[in-house]
Amino acid sequence: MYNVALFFHLLGATIWTGGHLILACTILPKALRDKDVNFLSQFESCYEKIGIPALIIQIASGLYLSFTLLPDLSQWFEFSNPVSRLISYKIILLGCTFLLAIDARLRIIPKLSPKNLNPLAYHIIPVTVLSVLFVFVGVSFQSGWLY
Ligand code: HEM
Repeated sequence: MYNVALFFHLLGATIWTGGHLILACTILPKALRDKDVNFLSQFESCYEKIGIPALIIQIASGLYLSFTLLPDLSQWFEFSNPVSRLISYKIILLGCTFLLAIDARLRIIPKLSPKNLNPLAYHIIPVTVLSVLFVFVGVSFQSGWLY
């Protein structure tokens, strides 16, 4: 069961992180250059259909993996051992991702216009960096990079 969850976790990671890298490295620069809100919105609305389920699968499978590695929830935020530290980093990254997503939805997207694309870029870029950090922290469980 652990390996099944790990499979879905990795599948979700390819979609979440891969999609954001495509958005930040190719779609966003073109939209900023051409001041084309529609191009960006079209990608976002197509990507959302698979990106949001992928994030939900990440969270569910990630919580399952964490619970299997460390069944005592009170130890998750202790920072006392490498596994609890890495789980805490994942949850902190998730919190930052949510804060940026909520801010974009409530404050930036309603006012989006060709002249007002930069604030959205300031959200897309950090969310992409966070998505890569998710992978880095994830790989650290087995590689020990952050131990
Ligand atoms: C978009 C969000 C996320 C991405 C892109 C992501 C990515 C990854 C990657 C690439 C791995 C390495 C898997 C391997 O060992 O081969 C991993 C492992 C792991 N992730 Fe995530 N992760 C995300 C969210 C979460 C969340 C929210 C949690 C739970 C708090 C979590 C918990 C774990 C755990 C416990 C492992 C270790 C699995 C193992 O090595 O056996 N992840 N993650």
